[in-house]
Amino acid sequence: MNVRGRVRPPGDKSISHRVLMLASLARGTSELEGLLTGEDVKSTGRVLRQLGAEITSIRDGGTVTVRASRLTPPASRLHCGNSGTTARLLLGVLAGHAFEARLTGDTSLRRRPMRRVTEPLRAMGAQIREQRGDALPLTIRGGRLRSLTYTTPVASAQIKSALLLAALTGNVAVTIREPYLSRDHTERLFVHLGLGLHARDGAIVYEPPDRRGVVPSFHLSVPGDASSAAFLVAAALLAERGELLVENVGVNPSRTGFLVVLERMGAYVERVNLRDEGGEPVADLIARPARLHGTEITAAEVPTLVDEVPILAILASRAERGSETVFREVGELRVKESNRLELLAANLRAVGADADVQGNDLHVRGAGRGTPRGRVETARDHRLAMGFAVLGTVPGADIRLSERASVAISYPRFFADLRRIGEGGRGKGDG
Ligand code: S3P
Repeated sequence: MNVRGRVRPPGDKSISHRVLMLASLARGTSELEGLLTGEDVKSTGRVLRQLGAEITSIRDGGTVTVRASRLTPPASRLHCGNSGTTARLLLGVLAGHAFEARLTGDTSLRRRPMRRVTEPLRAMGAQIREQRGDALPLTIRGGRLRSLTYTTPVASAQIKSALLLAALTGNVAVTIREPYLSRDHTERLFVHLGLGLHARDGAIVYEPPDRRGVVPSFHLSVPGDASSAAFLVAAALLAERGELLVENVGVNPSRTGFLVVLERMGAYVERVNLRDEGGEPVADLIARPARLHGTEITAAEVPTLVDEVPILAILASRAERGSETVFREVGELRVKESNRLELLAANLRAVGADADVQGNDLHVRGAGRGTPRGRVETARDHRLAMGFAVLGTVPGADIRLSERASVAISYPRFFADLRRIGEGGRGKGDG
């Protein structure tokens, strides 16, 4: 494939969830632009509506208006779909509300661990009943909370954000430390909205102001999702010729570890037109075909690229023959939308690449310009579907995906965009 032209990734998924929740906690009317229209964000919108927030329809190109006053008890259970962020952050929101709510999700979400969030929320005073152990469904009754000082066992923005939202809704202080820095969108939004958050001795500290009901209504434009942009950048790196401009990408350093790793692998992705949007750095990216070589990704880097391990591993399989890429301590990938770690390695092998899991490390050996062929089991995991679809763009590749519909979780227009950047590349009579 050759690439050319420009493309805009959809709105950032993490920020979209957070602004919908914060707008639903605000007093008054908020206006949100550039929100992701993927299924996960629609799940957040749906459960917030069940809790009394008035949210206009979440669709492409439109401003979403959120009118909120006070969350109210839901009439039925809150179905979080496929979205771990919806479930875990919502538990935080509900911890500070004195009513009962029941949360559930689809088969994939019902397999994912929840105690990482419910244990510290219980320590703050929320009552949470399990039905099937460390998983959804769960029933939560929030109310009067107490302050908490907590070190998260894993670097997870979902744990950190749930605790910050509980402290906000419960009007108590919280101090959080994490083993490595995970994405800091919640912290940036708190600061942007003037909610009492600061750093102290390497910890994140939220201290409530004197008055309750402090979230002001706001107007915010959500940057493009760096994790979605990563698939487009990867397609450009694997292309034979051309150049791709990926516009309006959030380049928060806690999300762009993949750009750092790509540079070590021999691919320099230029950032131009750097600006600020609602407390987040935003830029346009220029990506060109590159010859890649192997590298080592350290445990400290993993939180900054946790959702990009699939596409980085796929790129690593195209690195020069004999060079190895090692991802250290990526065991967390076992509890994502699928057992992403084992499936990634198995699918790489299924298409002729050389990869294996050793303990919690993933090893991928470069195959140079070999031709990937085979069937990929996505297990309905959007990031596996998109990653292997990108691999399918290399010359001669024959990649069959078990399904494609899962891309609607985070990037509904993915296949149309992937086709378009390739067609753009063929536009000037070069095949
Ligand atoms: C997210 C945090 C990450 C990430 C997920 C979104 C968030 O999960 O994998 O896609 O929006 O906070 P963990 O916090 O479990 O690492």
